[in-house]
Amino acid sequence: EELEMDLEAIEKGGFEHFMLKEIYEQPKVIADAVRGRMSASEGWIKLGGVSEYINRINQAKRFIITACGTSYHAGLLGEYLIEELARVPVEVEYASEFRYRNPIITENDVVLAISQSGETADTLAAIEIAKERQALIYGICNVIGSSIPRATHAGSYTHAGPEIGVASTKAFSTQVVILTLMALQIAQHKGSISTSYLRQVLYELQNIPEKIKLTLKLDAQIQEIASRFKDATNFLYLGRGVNFPVAMEGALKLKEISYIHAEGYPAAEMKHGPIALIDEQMPVVVLATNESAHDKIVSNIQEVKARKGKVIAVVNEGDVEIKALADYTIEIPATEEILSPLLTVVPLQLLSYHIALMRGTNVDQPRNLAKSVTVE
Ligand code: G6P
Repeated sequence: EELEMDLEAIEKGGFEHFMLKEIYEQPKVIADAVRGRMSASEGWIKLGGVSEYINRINQAKRFIITACGTSYHAGLLGEYLIEELARVPVEVEYASEFRYRNPIITENDVVLAISQSGETADTLAAIEIAKERQALIYGICNVIGSSIPRATHAGSYTHAGPEIGVASTKAFSTQVVILTLMALQIAQHKGSISTSYLRQVLYELQNIPEKIKLTLKLDAQIQEIASRFKDATNFLYLGRGVNFPVAMEGALKLKEISYIHAEGYPAAEMKHGPIALIDEQMPVVVLATNESAHDKIVSNIQEVKARKGKVIAVVNEGDVEIKALADYTIEIPATEEILSPLLTVVPLQLLSYHIALMRGTNVDQPRNLAKSVTVE
């Protein structure tokens, strides 16, 4: 037993929990996920699976992304990325709904299945249905040789390394990286983005690991915010555009490990319901890094403050306007807007980690949850 304890301590590499270790591994695993697959200076991207099926992918009338849990949130981001860059319609479906709905799928569809474990029963079943209907099936998985990669025509591994914490962190980031590369590669092939814009995004992508390292330095500040809100019974997370899926993911992280009820919402939808919940007890985490919607996010924050909600805003460094409005601001490095989820998700992972720790829950193995769900 003692030996086992020592082994586990070694595996945690000096961190108290696997989840924290995996959060801190993100700069490294993102660098691993892009290695050999792109060059910013030369302006190319090459995911092997995309290259192999480029004609079929190029002719696809539609992408359908299917997944569960955190991987589904990466899928929602994939919709923004692929539609924005490659200009192809995308639908995102919970695998459990998709499989039972007699979905309309043809040989002109590409079905992207995203799964950390590669073993999720609902995702696997969705793949089987799509395959019967002649779609091209592309997997984005982490565990090498798992069932989903074996069931697909092509795919890309995320190369995040083993993820032990039940709440997914580094797997999510690398899924988003693969979706970004995929969207860019298709866009380059179609000519739907300019060469200069492509290079700009690739340079920024190359800088993401460094910017995550800077974001991780905010840990102590985030711990302080956690101590202020650890006894909250509800949390609301708001975001617009690419930060809406991050709001969903932040809320899921908090639910999973701290057992606090949390909802992620598109910021502009707040007025259609969640605004009724806001009072002086309610912490509202606002992801406010989008340059394209800054004014709108500012007015969303004002709506929360007018009802005495407590605003924790994640902003780009130097955003004095939001700093003056919010109760707490977490300032992260600015980046290309479509890449900003890779940064905004990090403080949310840390916030849920610290809150869970302060509440004394089992961070790595939360009650009722499993790392890989191989039953319906
Ligand atoms: C479980 C895990 C989640 C994960 C989801 C999908 O619920 O607890 O962390 O996001 O399954 O898993 P997958 O392996 O398919 O990504």
